[in-house]
Amino acid sequence: MIKACVVGWPITHSRSPMIHGYWLKTLGIDGSYEKLAVKPEDAFAFFQGLPGSGLTGCNVTVPLKEIAFEAADEKDSSAVAVGAANTIWIENGKILAANTDTYGFMTHLSATAPNWLDVDKPVLILGAGGAARAIAFGFLEAGIEQLMISNRTKSRAEKLGEHFSKYRNKIRIVDWDNRSSAAAKAGVIVNTTTIGMRNEGSLDLDFSQVDSTTVVADIVYVPLETQLLKDARQRGLKTVDGLGMLLHQAVPGFEKWFGRRPDVTPELRALIVGDLEAAG
Ligand code: ATR
Repeated sequence: MIKACVVGWPITHSRSPMIHGYWLKTLGIDGSYEKLAVKPEDAFAFFQGLPGSGLTGCNVTVPLKEIAFEAADEKDSSAVAVGAANTIWIENGKILAANTDTYGFMTHLSATAPNWLDVDKPVLILGAGGAARAIAFGFLEAGIEQLMISNRTKSRAEKLGEHFSKYRNKIRIVDWDNRSSAAAKAGVIVNTTTIGMRNEGSLDLDFSQVDSTTVVADIVYVPLETQLLKDARQRGLKTVDGLGMLLHQAVPGFEKWFGRRPDVTPELRALIVGDLEAAG
């Protein structure tokens, strides 16, 4: 039996076992995917001990993603760009690491709003944490002309911009207070902050000047339709929810561990939506 898991501290709320369990069952694969709580102080040794442990690999969640990155022998371009890994697998005794958040976000965006790149306008990212970094990398690699980054703490946005020095002339830092005027110029707006999670806080974005072709994405998926997405939908804009990113980011890991590329199906989505609703 092939064994994989998700590690974090704590790990109780992870939906990954449900996602991978669904694929194992529907594809008829003899495998398992469990939750494993690993303390930060034990994490480096845990990752280094993966070869020969009986586990074929794992997903990694907060606060262990940076430690997983450090412990890996080889890292994909997104993991290097973000400085953190959420997917680990073993190949010829080596520890390989990827960050599939970039893939997850961009795949879901393209599936939901296929023409987003045709709208030849800047992309606005709200927030400057790890998720913002993964998503900024996705847009820059996709070849956008301009990326605007706005964060409550401006120095973090500047740091993010400096991190992508290769794309220096494409990145513009926008004051948090000016986010609505930046939104009015954007073709895609992405919330990567935690605002709106469990309906807490408000981004206070003024949609009145936003163009009707603008796509609005949120990485928050509890609730599934955040206030931001609701406001955007009521304004007639195309919206992209956060759950799709969670589902799509799981695909590459499953393929590495279990040898089959799974599909993100409406049935899988409904399963997770049902679980989110049951959890309140
Ligand atoms: P992650 O790595 O998961 O993206 P993070 O590093 O904790 O998470 O980042 C959270 C983001 O939400 C940050 O951009 C944070 O802004 P600051 O850098 O100013 O802290 C943003 N955020 C959280 N609460 C916020 C609030 N009430 N108002 C504005 N931004 C907020």
